[in-house]
Amino acid sequence: MTEPHCDPHPNPAGIKRVAVLTSGGDAPGMNAAIRAVVRTATSQGIEVIGVRRGFSGLHRGDFITLGPRDVANTLQRGGTILLSARSHTWRTPEGRARGARHLRAHDVDALIVIGGDGSFHGAHFLQEEHGIPVIGLPGTIDNDLYGTDHTIGYFTAVETALDAVDKLRDTGASHERIFVIEVMGRHAGHIALDVAVAGGAEEVFIPEDAKEVAGVLDIVRASVKKGKMGSIIIVAEGYPGGATGVAQAIQDGTGMETRVSILGHIQRGGSPVSSDRILASRLGEAAVYALMEGKSDVMVGRQNHETSFTPLADTWEKRKDVSRDLYRCAKTLSI
Ligand code: F6P
Repeated sequence: MTEPHCDPHPNPAGIKRVAVLTSGGDAPGMNAAIRAVVRTATSQGIEVIGVRRGFSGLHRGDFITLGPRDVANTLQRGGTILLSARSHTWRTPEGRARGARHLRAHDVDALIVIGGDGSFHGAHFLQEEHGIPVIGLPGTIDNDLYGTDHTIGYFTAVETALDAVDKLRDTGASHERIFVIEVMGRHAGHIALDVAVAGGAEEVFIPEDAKEVAGVLDIVRASVKKGKMGSIIIVAEGYPGGATGVAQAIQDGTGMETRVSILGHIQRGGSPVSSDRILASRLGEAAVYALMEGKSDVMVGRQNHETSFTPLADTWEKRKDVSRDLYRCAKTLSI
């Protein structure tokens, strides 16, 4: 144990060494979160072990020690320096038992998992079956976790998608075309809705609203009649049929030519924007303090500008809805 570097935080849990991993789809800002964990822990005299390749690495004992200088120059970098994976072995009790043995062999007192709901399932079972304290940090571009207003990576993904939408509008307007653009988000429409409003889309299709494409064909026809220079339609990947299905329905229903653009994994890359860096830094710091205070099996998030703690199970059992106000706003402004 090294000497504390700043005011000591109460440590009734007696944490001396924590492990941290990133899991599931990477998200811009994960490095900022790792950095915050490492530097907060070090400032409290706590050692940090980085687990490489998410739960697959935990299962294999793929560990490295991390000090404050190991995370230098990572704040602005996209991706994750610890690498990420979607683990299959972790889904079995045997796989989790092996991971728990590796943690104990390295005298690790607690684990911080940066990822989405799949990763939180893994963390929850580790704590339930082996009594190892765990804290989740919301790291996913999808923003689909109950218990936090925003997830790490979401703001950057929206900026990246918006940049692409602006560019597609340039070419779309020049050719007076209808562009149907698909954004990520898995089963949620958060990215789609934000991008639609910020990008001035004529229509947006999200999984949270099962409206039929046929029902909006008049809007598409009308937008052309109104003299609009091309149209932008945003489709969340979770909407049935995706952008390809929507484009086909528009072509079949109106005879108008469409172009489809699926933005894909580009939305997961790039340097995190300031909001993601700040969110990740706050949450990384809070995660270490939470473990020291004896908290476990919770996700640290931010709600209404305050740090909040949500049971891990709630993050996947309860649903975070899209902003209905914003959905209405998207419709109102597409006149
Ligand atoms: O959860 C993040 C995410 O990028 C989703 O938006 C998308 O559906 C999925 O991951 C893609 O996963 P993969 O990288 O495994 O193709």
